[in-house]
Amino acid sequence: MPVTIARLTEADAPSYRALMLEAYEVPDAFTSTPQERAAAPASFWVGRLAHPQGLSVAFGAFDGGALVGTVTLEFSDRAKTRHKAHVVGMYVRPEQQGQGAGTALLAAAVAHAPTLAHVQVLNLTVTEGNAAALALYERAGFQAFGTEPMAVHTTDGYKAKVHMWKRLPAHGNKEQQTSPN
Ligand SMILES: CC(C)(COP(=O)(O)OP(=O)(O)OC[C@H]1O[C@@H](n2cnc3c(N)ncnc32)[C@H](O)[C@@H]1OP(=O)(O)O)[C@@H](O)C(=O)NCCC(=O)NCCS
Repeated sequence: MPVTIARLTEADAPSYRALMLEAYEVPDAFTSTPQERAAAPASFWVGRLAHPQGLSVAFGAFDGGALVGTVTLEFSDRAKTRHKAHVVGMYVRPEQQGQGAGTALLAAAVAHAPTLAHVQVLNLTVTEGNAAALALYERAGFQAFGTEPMAVHTTDGYKAKVHMWKRLPAHGNKEQQTSPN
């Protein structure tokens, strides 16, 4: 049965935390360790899903009510960077991988980004050699623009991170400057 994609809310924080602590165990993905994130306060997880200023929005893939995948969009409120959002925390449980959940999650995030009219660019990083994730992002229109050597130190040694971006379609209403900064 295909998964259902839905925006996560504060009520999903416990299952989101459990899923992400599992995700951080993947050695070739993510910058955080499970130990670091396990020590994070409850407010960190709630902030990912229900940020008080709306600067973080997360989506979940549900299989029969169980959260099996997720992705988060992080926005900036700084005048010079608010046109960019970051895609982070992409994860699908191994049993559900290869069935389209990752593609559907990424599509939901990409579709949501322009609801903030000033967002024009999506950025993300992916560990070099993570072929499944690279293929997923490339299919969604992300392009690599550089590789940072020795970006993370994993149990397998130093790994590079590929930086990718995707330009969103123009909105018509060009960048509105509402802040004097
Ligand atoms: C990356 C990830 C989110 C993809 O999720 P998913 O639900 O399996 O994604 P989908 O099923 O939508 O698509 C997977 C695609 O990758 C392809 N793929 C799978 N393994 C692959 C590999 N080793 N090399 C190349 N392509 C691969 C599949 O064939 C599929 O492509 P297709 O639709 O053309 O057949 C998932 O593998 C995952 O959670 N990995 C561990 C965490 C991680 O790496 N996160 C990304 C951090 S940047």
